[in-house]
Amino acid sequence: MNADGRTRLNQTPEWTALAKHREELGEVRLRELFAAEPGRGTAYALRVGDLYVDYSKHLVTDDTLRLLRELAAATDVFGLRDAMFRGEKINTTEDRSVLHTALRAPRDAVIEADGENVVPGVHAVLDKMAGFADRVRSGEWTGHTGKRIRNVVNIGIGGSDLGPAMAYEVLRAYTDRSMTFRFVSNVDGSDLHEAVRDLDPAETLFIVASKTFTTIETVTNATSARSWLLAALGDKAAVAQHFVALSTNAEKVAGFGIDTANMFEFWDWVGGRYSYDSAIGLSLMIAIGPDRFREMLDGFRIVDEHFRNAPAESNVPLLLGLLGIWYGNFHDAQSHAVLPYSHYLSKFTAYLQQLDMESNGKYVGRDGREVEWQTGPVVWGTPGTNGQHAYYQLIHQGTKLIPADFIGFARPVAELSDELKAQHDLLMANFFAQTQALAFGKTPQEVRAEGVPEELVPHKTFQGNHPTTTILAPELTPSVLGQLVALYEHKVFVQGAVWNIDSFDQWGVELGKVLAKRVEPALTEGAEVEGLDASTKALVAAYRELRGR
Ligand code: F6P
Repeated sequence: MNADGRTRLNQTPEWTALAKHREELGEVRLRELFAAEPGRGTAYALRVGDLYVDYSKHLVTDDTLRLLRELAAATDVFGLRDAMFRGEKINTTEDRSVLHTALRAPRDAVIEADGENVVPGVHAVLDKMAGFADRVRSGEWTGHTGKRIRNVVNIGIGGSDLGPAMAYEVLRAYTDRSMTFRFVSNVDGSDLHEAVRDLDPAETLFIVASKTFTTIETVTNATSARSWLLAALGDKAAVAQHFVALSTNAEKVAGFGIDTANMFEFWDWVGGRYSYDSAIGLSLMIAIGPDRFREMLDGFRIVDEHFRNAPAESNVPLLLGLLGIWYGNFHDAQSHAVLPYSHYLSKFTAYLQQLDMESNGKYVGRDGREVEWQTGPVVWGTPGTNGQHAYYQLIHQGTKLIPADFIGFARPVAELSDELKAQHDLLMANFFAQTQALAFGKTPQEVRAEGVPEELVPHKTFQGNHPTTTILAPELTPSVLGQLVALYEHKVFVQGAVWNIDSFDQWGVELGKVLAKRVEPALTEGAEVEGLDASTKALVAAYRELRGR
């Protein structure tokens, strides 16, 4: 029994039933499941918004799915979901509400945090962002010398970078192509150097994005960006026209020298990795315009409403979360690949890495005790078809079980030439072929029938049985992007709820930050730092020697 009165997850009858079912199912073959149920391809598919989600190529039967849903019921996933939507403080270790869903709520919705309706504030900031974005896009907002702003550089890290950088890339076809957008995150000075080296400071707007405004990487880069600007423009007053801030911390923003009139606010009930649909999306809004941004928010909301209202049997985020639990907890899968068949989604998996791994990479439960079950997987992947010529070999014929999501689109983006549009069918032929090959493989008999010499038969055999989800959307639009992100947000939520962990804190990033602060004087001044271990001490000495200090 847990301190919170819950039975330990791995001691619940529902968990035990799943473990037993896994044993009974043994090495279930997808070939057999499809042979036994010819309608499986459509029976195991769901729709949410514009997304068609095929989960037929999973190592599951109706019994598996029922048992997984029973686990979700026993762990009260929907109870926690409702508490989240109601604004209860489900982020217990930080004593905060978790209300990213309020960021896309309609104007007339009422959602309370600490007894206050947060929706009017959300829309006030969205309106302020829209006014500013329009002024920058139209040229009404100029730089200090009167020149039009042509370049926007977002400075942020983690959730204050990955979301806007990813979404800008995804929605490139919708962006104002006459403007340049760059995203600087790394405290490695080369990041800022490369981002600004060919820009005219008089035409450049910096957006400093930091929830806390204390993140060392962001504050350091913003300080260097200010020096770069002032070196060219000379006048300190230029900062007001060339710097705006996205933050919850007005005091720190003012301390940095940014006029708080040019600060776009958000709130502590928005987690960093859940924030790009808040003020953190300002660079994206300038790129695509307020109307497209609104379409994206509406897309998020479609999936929010679905997650909130759809019954367990057809609830897609619930299903995807439970499938991950099936493999992570009952098949020992360690990782999960997300493989988008769209070049525009090149940063999507990196974005999901923070969303998933910072949320569910935890070994301590809500009750403060160590969990006795696996939690969040390693999330990885890059766009197909590139991955096919790199690491798919291991997915097909390696020794590890790697469940994967394949994300594809029926239509190419409108602005491609006819010749490039025609390539889309080839891209998608690969998309469908890969999940087929992964699921059904190629038997030794099939290989032999092709006349392959006997000694090569084992090498050319594909065992198959590699589980995949296919997510197919009509076209990559702002709304579809919102739908996809919300789908993964809620999938991560479901898993955290079952594992009984707080998916909304991130204490695991703190120790490295503290140690970096402590080590820095050893590098710069050769200071004697207390508590350095022998390895780090020797490394620091080697570094100083190589650095010529
Ligand atoms: O170090 C992790 C983290 O706190 C993330 O959760 C967050 O997205 C990122 O740093 C950036 O934080 P901030 O927006 O406060 O600069």
